[in-house]
Amino acid sequence: MSEVVVVKLGGTTLAEQRQVLEEVAQVARRRPVVLVHGGGKRMTEWLERLGVQTRFENGLRVTDPAALEVAAAVLRGVVNSELVAALRDAGCDAVGLSGVDGGLLIGERLPNVGLVATVTGVRRDLIDSLLVAGQVPVVAPLARDAEGTVCNVNADDAAAGLAAGLGARQLVLMTDVDGVHDGSGRKLDSITADEAEALIADGTIGGGMVPKVKAALSALAWDGAEAIIADGSAAGALARALDDRTFGTRVSSRAHAGTA
Ligand SMILES: Nc1ncnc2c1ncn2[C@@H]1O[C@H](COP(=O)(O)OP(=O)(O)OP(=O)(O)O)[C@@H](O)[C@H]1O
Ligand SMILES: [Mg+2]
Repeated sequence: MSEVVVVKLGGTTLAEQRQVLEEVAQVARRRPVVLVHGGGKRMTEWLERLGVQTRFENGLRVTDPAALEVAAAVLRGVVNSELVAALRDAGCDAVGLSGVDGGLLIGERLPNVGLVATVTGVRRDLIDSLLVAGQVPVVAPLARDAEGTVCNVNADDAAAGLAAGLGARQLVLMTDVDGVHDGSGRKLDSITADEAEALIADGTIGGGMVPKVKAALSALAWDGAEAIIADGSAAGALARALDDRTFGTRVSSRAHAGTA
């Protein structure tokens, strides 16, 4: 397992992310960091502005060719460039790329959601060479499938695929809520695969939290790996997500249940 930490930022505005980006820059001085970003809210804004209709299916945006064009433009163009610029302002040698660049992310199309893929392969040597050069890769969630078609990837899925492919010890999924809530609205400090499945089945976990929890579980391929879902706007969010077991929700496979 590697010391690399994969951090995913959700789709809030850059202003709300300045603080966590400063933290990413700080952590990157001590250990290798790969940043993955979403952009759901920004994409909805642009899609509305351009009159392109989309809908969600189990938390995934159903993506037709017109929506994919907007997704590529907004994620790789607008959001990725903004994050790279902000990290560079924070003294971090950030480099932007999407899952298409260098064949970084290989995807497999998911049924009934159009041009949406899940990550099935990662070109690890590309990320390793950037990390060795002291750079922080900032990855936009796009991938190409086996036929070479560019697809949209849920950013949590992209981050989890990268974490699993790199053998990362920690995956942090920063979002706009303090963690996974149970049926009474209480934030859970930890959740196992079985508990997560039950909460998804009864609808307690819904919307974008469904692919997020599933992604967190899929990143736990390595023994001792952990995935944390936490509020990226909280003070000291990254340091706390990495070290404070009462902050956010730690997702563990059944084998790790009880250790959280
Ligand atoms: N049980 C739950 N606990 C916490 N949040 C939940 C739950 N069920 C649904 N949600 C919703 O999931 C949302 C987080 O997922 P969402 O996809 O909207 O954001 P994101 O993944 O951080 O951003 P992006 O999709 O842009 O990358 C929360 O804002 C909340 O409304
Ligand atoms: Mg999401």
